[in-house]
Amino acid sequence: MKLVIEKLDYEGQGVTHIDGKVCFVKRALPEEEVEAMVLQDKKHFTLMKTIQVFKKSERRVSSFCSYADICGGCTYDIISYEDSLLAKKKMVEELFEKANLNFSSCSIIPSKEILGYRNKISLKVSNGCIGYYEEETHQFVAIENCLLAKPSIQSFLKDIAFCSLSNGDITIRANYNDELLISINSDKEPLIDKRIVERHKIAGILWNGKCVYNNSFFFEKRDNLLYKVHAEAFFQINEDIPMEIWKMINKYFNFEDTVFDFYCGVGFFSLLLANVVKKVIGIEENPRAILDANYNAQLNMCNNVSFHVGKVEKVIEKIPYTANKVLVDPPRAGLHKNVVEKLLNNDFELICYVSCNPRTLCRDLQLLQQKYDIKELKLFDMFPYTKHVEVACCLSRKERR
Ligand SMILES: C[S@@+](CC[C@H](N)C(=O)[O-])C[C@H]1O[C@@H](n2cnc3c(N)ncnc32)[C@H](O)[C@@H]1O
Repeated sequence: MKLVIEKLDYEGQGVTHIDGKVCFVKRALPEEEVEAMVLQDKKHFTLMKTIQVFKKSERRVSSFCSYADICGGCTYDIISYEDSLLAKKKMVEELFEKANLNFSSCSIIPSKEILGYRNKISLKVSNGCIGYYEEETHQFVAIENCLLAKPSIQSFLKDIAFCSLSNGDITIRANYNDELLISINSDKEPLIDKRIVERHKIAGILWNGKCVYNNSFFFEKRDNLLYKVHAEAFFQINEDIPMEIWKMINKYFNFEDTVFDFYCGVGFFSLLLANVVKKVIGIEENPRAILDANYNAQLNMCNNVSFHVGKVEKVIEKIPYTANKVLVDPPRAGLHKNVVEKLLNNDFELICYVSCNPRTLCRDLQLLQQKYDIKELKLFDMFPYTKHVEVACCLSRKERR
């Protein structure tokens, strides 16, 4: 059956209808006529995948990746980078409009690197081969490369056979200096062949969480700040975009401010803030990240920062500090309801919300709107060619009447 695609949805999938039922069609573009196979048939929608394109969109381009149709990691590799930015912007604008969120306009900041930008990738290992499980079939698909990864990671992937991996998974991270931090979870201890250490700058290798070569951390550098990052701690995966976010938000802070940095990780924003404001209080649930954050504060001589370990929603109940401004950078799930309540019950002058999920951002902003107005909102293309987009939003307390 030929399907005519009407538009793209929030995930970058084509949308069409069969007998009134909505169908989401992977790897199809608006106005295209395609044949698709059913992946899932649910009560309210059908999920499909394009198998043949009869009438191509003028916007369709050939993908740069030979695994694109099976991997599922990239969604916008079948249109130009410029068109992918427009699609992401439209997606967020529509989401906000539907949610009745008041803001005049938003722009999207492109990534400096549109390929080779990821400083971390995670892959499955099966019988010594690296790859991933295909989204639909969960079958292992071996790959040799991922063009989204930084060149130093791609070069390591070429030599991965020297690690004699068994079954499990591997995460490879690269820092600003192209040093690699590798975490392997597997049944058999990996072999650290001398060709690996001669050809690549290996900061450390961990096997099932235990350091088996060099260190379990490396250092990242942004601006004039150095950050120690443990293999199990979060660090922003695109080098330039977080600094673009900082350029947008830093004008909202000054030397009189005390700032809560909720979900602070190893202190990425906390230390940038520390140079601008009077005091920063960071909260993060990962104890490894908090150890690094404390180390990083000392390393960068920031003595106006304190870090607290625990879930934000719990720690805020007992923290012996108050602040006049807040920065939140939660995971994809967005803010816990207790955190939203805290933001509503305390009169913060400003909230900077950095989000990697526009849907949960939208949900949280709908609640925060009772007390706060959106002052500025910008999109950042942290993850080029994928369906993901980062949004930074600054909110100010509504005037009391
Ligand atoms: C998107 S990252 C942001 C980290 C940091 N702001 C940065 O820029 O590097 C989200 C962080 O929230 C932490 N996290 C997740 N759920 C949490 C919770 N309920 N309470 C505290 N931290 C949490 C994660 O460990 C992760 O470090």
